[in-house]
Amino acid sequence: MRTPIIAGNWKMYKTVHEAIAFTKEFRQLVKDVHGVEVVVAPPFTALHAVVEAARSSPVAVAGQNLHWERDGAFTGEVSAAMLHEAGAEYVIIGHSERRRLFGETDGNVNRKVVAALAGELTPIVCIGETLEERESSRTLDVLDRQIKEGLDGLSASQVAGLVIAYEPVWAIGTGRNATPQQAQEAHAHIRGRVRQWFGAEAADKCRILYGGSVKPDNIRDLRAQPDVDGALVGGASLDPKGFSAIVRDGSRR
Ligand code: PGA
Repeated sequence: MRTPIIAGNWKMYKTVHEAIAFTKEFRQLVKDVHGVEVVVAPPFTALHAVVEAARSSPVAVAGQNLHWERDGAFTGEVSAAMLHEAGAEYVIIGHSERRRLFGETDGNVNRKVVAALAGELTPIVCIGETLEERESSRTLDVLDRQIKEGLDGLSASQVAGLVIAYEPVWAIGTGRNATPQQAQEAHAHIRGRVRQWFGAEAADKCRILYGGSVKPDNIRDLRAQPDVDGALVGGASLDPKGFSAIVRDGSRR
């Protein structure tokens, strides 16, 4: 049995003040929810404040990105060690906005995954095809490349502990989510490749989240799919009430 994860990606939203106010309200709303890992990924500036505001609650914290080096002359970057010390337990890697707007490659993703694991963070590795790739029937090839190159060199037990987020780029922030069937098809393919390349145990244990316009009214149908182990939620994670509804429905199949 895989424990589901509902993770909120706040992107470049919420000041420290707003992030603390969210966390104080949200932790009350999810305090009696069991059987699900609840994660929020604030901007770096608010990360430690959210860790403090979430202390002794079910809410864990993720970074939205990291650099693969431990420290050094890398203006504007933060390392796994810094995130870990600030109280993060997870880190989002390879989000499509990082790939598209900041030129991240699968090779960069791979180095970041290795660094995150070395720094005791659980990577949430984002993969997914663009609309053009889907319309030209290249979805599965794109996913294969992103998995193969992004997870290159990892051991089976490292992959077993990973979280993979399937986020079709055309569904992110567009209000146009994948149908539960489209999500299941992609998730089953991803798990199949993990099985082929890293073995049955890795495939059975690694959590695969769906992301892209997840809302309180569609989480239930997505979670009903056997290979959808939760969600990575953008816009709908900014409101404590709405996000807690997603956590509640996402905690069960
Ligand atoms: P969205 O974003 O839920 O606003 O579509 C998802 C994401 O970018 O992770």
